[in-house]
Amino acid sequence: SQVTLTLNPAFRVAPVRRRTFGAFVEHLGRCVYTGIYEPDHPAADEDGFRSDVLALTRELGVSSVRYPGGNFVSGYRWEDGIGPVEDRPARHDLAWHSTEPNTVGLDEFMAWARKAEVEPMYAVNLGTRGIEEALDVLQYANAPQGIALADERAANGNPEPHGIRMWCLGNEMDGPWQTGHKTAEEYARLATETARAMRQEDPDLELVACGSSNSSMETFGAWENTVLTDSYDFVDMISAHAYYAERDDDQASFLASADDMDHFIDSVVATADHVRAKLKKDKRIMISFDEWNVWYQHRAESRPPSGDDWPVAPVLLEDVYSAQDAVVFGNLLISLLRHSDRVASASLAQLVNVIAPIMTEPGGASWKQTTFHPFALTSRHARGEVLDVRLDAPTFDNARFGTSSAADAVATWDEEAGELAVFVVNRSNQEELALDADLASFGELELVEALTLHHEDPYAANTKDAPETVVPQANDSLRLEAGRLTGALPAISWSLVRLA
Ligand code: AHR
Repeated sequence: SQVTLTLNPAFRVAPVRRRTFGAFVEHLGRCVYTGIYEPDHPAADEDGFRSDVLALTRELGVSSVRYPGGNFVSGYRWEDGIGPVEDRPARHDLAWHSTEPNTVGLDEFMAWARKAEVEPMYAVNLGTRGIEEALDVLQYANAPQGIALADERAANGNPEPHGIRMWCLGNEMDGPWQTGHKTAEEYARLATETARAMRQEDPDLELVACGSSNSSMETFGAWENTVLTDSYDFVDMISAHAYYAERDDDQASFLASADDMDHFIDSVVATADHVRAKLKKDKRIMISFDEWNVWYQHRAESRPPSGDDWPVAPVLLEDVYSAQDAVVFGNLLISLLRHSDRVASASLAQLVNVIAPIMTEPGGASWKQTTFHPFALTSRHARGEVLDVRLDAPTFDNARFGTSSAADAVATWDEEAGELAVFVVNRSNQEELALDADLASFGELELVEALTLHHEDPYAANTKDAPETVVPQANDSLRLEAGRLTGALPAISWSLVRLA
């Protein structure tokens, strides 16, 4: 079968936003301890950060990092994590039934973020806490010296404000699993008043209200409506979270997961614009897709400890990703890019060890999961303007979405540099697709590079001992002749084609 793509520099969606390539570091499992931070590791730097993980983070092309949670933040006391480390209390983390030693806190995270060359995104606790604590952490982080909390930051070794611009008003407050879970009305009031107060402190902040934890939540849609109707003037973005997995051997539905992400984004945009019309506002609310990934949530790896067992940094959510997972993951990035007109920020959940593209062994090696590759390549080569792609492809039936396209694609065009990048997936588990893309409207182009991520065993994965089992390979079947790009896309594959 054939997939036909029509591309044109006029099919412009929006500029590529660097913040699309954000990630997430939560105090969860081994993301922080033995992930980004391990002072006893041979590769630890003078601050205790693993330099191998820092290098991989930079190679991944991460733009921003959300911190410190996640479910964790809804019971977190931020001030436990500042000041002399020996004075910091250990506490139970109810979200992950673990013990939080508080060795890493806000100042350490900011030191790490500077080294990783990422923008921070900080979440305040609106589960067990409220306006006062949100203002406290904001003043500690961002106020110039001369007031108590800023002076305390200076005494802790940071005379200059950290200058954090993006702030999340809590985390997944619609979820009954969340500590301090709230109804839409309760959350709307708290988020609005917290945002109003934070803006009194600093009008230039970019504030994210909690949207739905996934598109299957019973309150999906109604939640966004209630929250935005109350908070519209005070927030810039509404969050969206989504995780996908192959369940009950339903491979076909899993391969079409990006259909849900498209629907999720389109529905939140429709709801936000409904509120805009209703309130007669000019401003548009954008989306912060601040948790997305493949996550095998139903497997044992995701079950927190229980009973008297409250370990520090346990092995939790350490999913091992397959070639097929990386194809779905690359397709989710295609969906995010395609919606760059309304998705202003996104965070891959998470960065290290916990459902992550980077894995580490305590005291030992670090390596790249399969998902590392589509993220790094998309972040590196998506430049200039995002272009919509007109696509004609066969379809396949699946239980979750009915009928889905066997192919999906997006492109980016950097007019100044004359560089075109085409990201395309073959989501069929049955057949190779013959690609035929009309690129004539871009003028003279040459094929720079064609890479395909595919494995004859879709369940093949990268491990510590075989970290290169699934890596993108040159796709020599792709050719450019007279403005037409042709070649073969194997079943269950993700490809990047670069032209200039
Ligand atoms: O990323 C793992 C968890 O998923 C986060 O803590 C939570 O916000 C979401 O449910």
